[in-house]
Order: sequence, then structure tokens, then C-alpha cells
Amino acid sequence: MRDRFGLTVVTGGAQGIGRALCEAFAADGASRVVVLDVDGSKASALAERLAGAAIVVDVSDGAAFTEALTQIESDIGPISTFISNAGVALGFDAPSSNAAHASDDVWMRAWEVNVMAHVRAARYLIPRMIARGGGTFVQMASAAGLLNQIGSAVYGTTKHAAVGFAENIAISHGSQGIRVALVCPQGVDTALLAAIPVGPERGDGVLTPEAVALATIQGLDEGRFLILPHEVVHGYYRRKADDTDRWIRGMAQLAQRFAHEGSQT
Ligand SMILES: NC(=O)c1ccc[n+]([C@@H]2O[C@H](COP(=O)([O-])OP(=O)(O)OC[C@H]3O[C@@H](n4cnc5c(N)ncnc54)[C@H](O)[C@@H]3O)[C@@H](O)[C@H]2O)c1
Repeated sequence: MRDRFGLTVVTGGAQGIGRALCEAFAADGASRVVVLDVDGSKASALAERLAGAAIVVDVSDGAAFTEALTQIESDIGPISTFISNAGVALGFDAPSSNAAHASDDVWMRAWEVNVMAHVRAARYLIPRMIARGGGTFVQMASAAGLLNQIGSAVYGTTKHAAVGFAENIAISHGSQGIRVALVCPQGVDTALLAAIPVGPERGDGVLTPEAVALATIQGLDEGRFLILPHEVVHGYYRRKADDTDRWIRGMAQLAQRFAHEGSQT
């Protein structure tokens, strides 16, 4: 089962879920791992430990990001598996505040990282992967992309857009040898989760980044498009589709509860 993922690139690979993905793929299935991150020192330390390579770039800088992908392909080799994991949790506030309150700057920063980085990676890689006979493109979105995010319209909306994009590339290119997977965890024990206000995403148990990485590999091995490391998300997603009006009312009650709890702390 070695080398079934080939050269694997993980964005946001220096810490959190990305770090665990780098470690898991290096241990099981990747011929080599490239840790791509804006944090150069953490990326280099991890790459050294995994006998991989580090690339320092901000994925929200479209030109620099595309140049970095070109550099990887020319200096290291063709990318077989791309894991578009980097993401930012912006625009969080008390759930009762105006959902549209975040500035255009905050919306656009989240849009660039949580959506456009996936688009730019796919624009560069998908034609090349097709020409080479196939490849794997994984997007780390969030349960917030299926169920929305209490406390941040910015996060909920950009993650929904990421889900829509992953579905679209799977629909458009699945028959051309591109294996697309979409990973949608709830709470995971990382710096990102620690930095946002307490909300319902912790309610069903917070997973380790390692558990999410293992679920990702297992989901890919099973040929899944939708990978849900928290089993419970299946049920929520089904309930949302079955009776969306009822589900929205339930989420509104939950938002009020967290707004109330937030105002007491
Ligand atoms: N932690 C959770 O509860 C949770 C739940 C669901 C989904 N996610 C998603 O998982 C992904 C990873 O999140 P995490 O919790 O590990 O976050 P994290 O903040 O712990 O790590 C994110 C990594 O991405 C890097 N990064 C951020 N912006 C970047 C940019 N513009 N260019 C390059 N690198 C950048 C950071 O330097 C860091 O190494 C994100 O897409 C996040 O939205 C996280």
C-alpha cells in the first residue's frame, strides 16, 4: 500500500490538521510530502522531520501561489495528491450581532484563503493531472460548509462556497481520472478552534487532528467524495435536507442560546 498517493502537497501543512495530514500521508501512502505554509520555520522543521520539502507561500497571493506550484512541479516532481487544507476562521462575534457586520476586508481575506486558494490550485493542477492520467484533489472544508457556522457568517459562507466548488470539480472531472474528496469536520483540537468563541461545534466531541488525518486517508481508500470525520454530521446533514425550515428554526434557537451564554461570560 506504499506510494499510492505519490508526491503529496498539503497547504497549511505546518500545524494543526495540516501537520497531522503531512505526518499521516508521509507514514502511509505518499512517496514524499511537501509542507506548504506561510509559516516558514514550522514548515521547514516538519519537512525535515518527514524527509519532505517545505515551501513558504501565502495561498491568498494568487501569483505567488501559482508560482510555488510551478516550482514544486519543476524542482521536486509532478504533484499526484493535492490537499488544499489552509483556512482561516474570521468574522467571529457574538451570535446576536449583525451577521453582515464584518468589513469587506475581512470578507475578502476569508474568501481568498477559504475559497480562491482551492480554485487557483485546481486551475493549475487539474489540467496537468488529467494530462498525466489522473490525480487526487482533496479540499478541507468544514461541517460549517454543510450546516453553517453559528457566530460567523464569514466562515459559514466561505466554507459553503468551498463545498460548492469541490462538488463542481468532482462533477466536472471525476470521469477524467480526478479523484476529488471533501473533508468536513466539526470541532478539531487546533489553534484555530482555540481562537474562536465557544460554540456548538464542540458539542459532539472535539477530535484530534490525527483522527481527522486518518479519516481522510480511510475515506480516500474507500473512494469517498464526502468525508465526515464526525459521524454525527451525517445525521444533521440529512435532517437539514429533510426539513430545512425546521432545521433553521433549531439552529436559530441554538444561536440564541450561545448568544445568551456568551453575554454571561
Ligand atoms: N480546527 C477545527 O475545528 C476545524 C474544523 C473544521 C474545519 N477546519 C478547517 O481545517 C483547516 C485547517 O485548520 P486548523 O484547525 O488546522 O487551523 P490552524 O490555524 O491550526 O492551522 C492552519 C495552518 O494554515 C496556515 N495558513 C493559514 N493561512 C495561510 C495562508 N494564507 N497561506 C498559507 N498557509 C496558511 C497556518 O500558518 C497554519 O499552519 C482549515 O481549512 C479549517 O477551516 C478546522
